[in-house]
Amino acid sequence: MRIAVTTPTGNVGRHLVAALLRAGVRPRVLLRDPGRLAPEVRDEVDAVPVDQYDADAVVAATRDVDALFWVDPTTDSADPLADCARATSAVVRAVTENRIGRVVFQSSVGAEKRHGAGEIDGLAHTETALDGTGVDVTHLRCGYFFTNLELQLDALRAGTLQVILPLDQPMAWVAPRDIAEVAAARLLSPAWSGRCVQAVHGPADLTWRQVGAILTAATGRPISVERITDDAMRAQLQRAGMPDSLVEAVLGMSTGLRENFVPEQRRTLRTTTPTTLAAWAYDHLRHRIDDAS
Ligand SMILES: NC(=O)c1ccc[n+]([C@@H]2O[C@H](COP(=O)([O-])OP(=O)(O)OC[C@H]3O[C@@H](n4cnc5c(N)ncnc54)[C@H](OP(=O)(O)O)[C@@H]3O)[C@@H](O)[C@H]2O)c1
Repeated sequence: MRIAVTTPTGNVGRHLVAALLRAGVRPRVLLRDPGRLAPEVRDEVDAVPVDQYDADAVVAATRDVDALFWVDPTTDSADPLADCARATSAVVRAVTENRIGRVVFQSSVGAEKRHGAGEIDGLAHTETALDGTGVDVTHLRCGYFFTNLELQLDALRAGTLQVILPLDQPMAWVAPRDIAEVAAARLLSPAWSGRCVQAVHGPADLTWRQVGAILTAATGRPISVERITDDAMRAQLQRAGMPDSLVEAVLGMSTGLRENFVPEQRRTLRTTTPTTLAAWAYDHLRHRIDDAS
């Protein structure tokens, strides 16, 4: 079985590559710079240099592939939704022209809204475009990645995270390694076909207030979480140099899932994955915070 994996150095992709290797599969990995693969991985995979916005390159790299793990790459460009649309065109062409049998797509909680959730709208566009190809596809509607906290190391060191969600609003928090496990199982399993939506919710829904307490206990540093206004966050992101459209796309991921949002997929045994935020923060985040302080 030939399986292609995008973003093999990414938060989920690198764990997926490892899971496939453990399953006895030699994956084909698509990435801009194969030199970025971990040295111990390089000899175990077939690496193809690919920019995922280059549809011709994606089509060429996925010839003879039976199954594909697709991630819309993260972008900091002025128009993230346009980037997502370009990535979507590439994967649709690859699936269609290469008659790829099955796709597992890394989507998000909130994509079911289709519109009004900032960057997540781009993932919704990819979902519907893949549905239109008729391929067997599983959309992984993932919760909020633990690894997003690694983008806030300075704030964590200073002891305060700022958010625009209500501090008592619960949401699904998930370890990317657990998403990779679900992706590997879906890619390898012949037990499904058609269009599937598989939510990946982590072990528990958490409020930001609970997250602050968990991080304080796991890291041994007092970490509080403060709610600020949308305008204050907007101004911060603008001061950091983000173009306005990107600022709105980032804010939209919170504001779009804030009032009266109920995820289409409820938490069940099937959506619940094991790694706790406490364990991940103790094993990983604690060291990242300590490293540069
Ligand atoms: N973070 C969340 O909470 C969350 C939740 C649900 C869904 N998602 C979705 O998951 C995806 C990203 O996950 P992530 O935030 O954890 O980031 P990530 O896995 O670190 O993804 C970034 C990856 O994209 C690759 N990349 C960037 N531009 C590329 C290009 N033009 N061609 C090929 N590869 C490119 C990067 O590779 P190199 O830089 O090494 O080339 C890197 O491996 C996004 O689609 C996001 O919407 C995220």
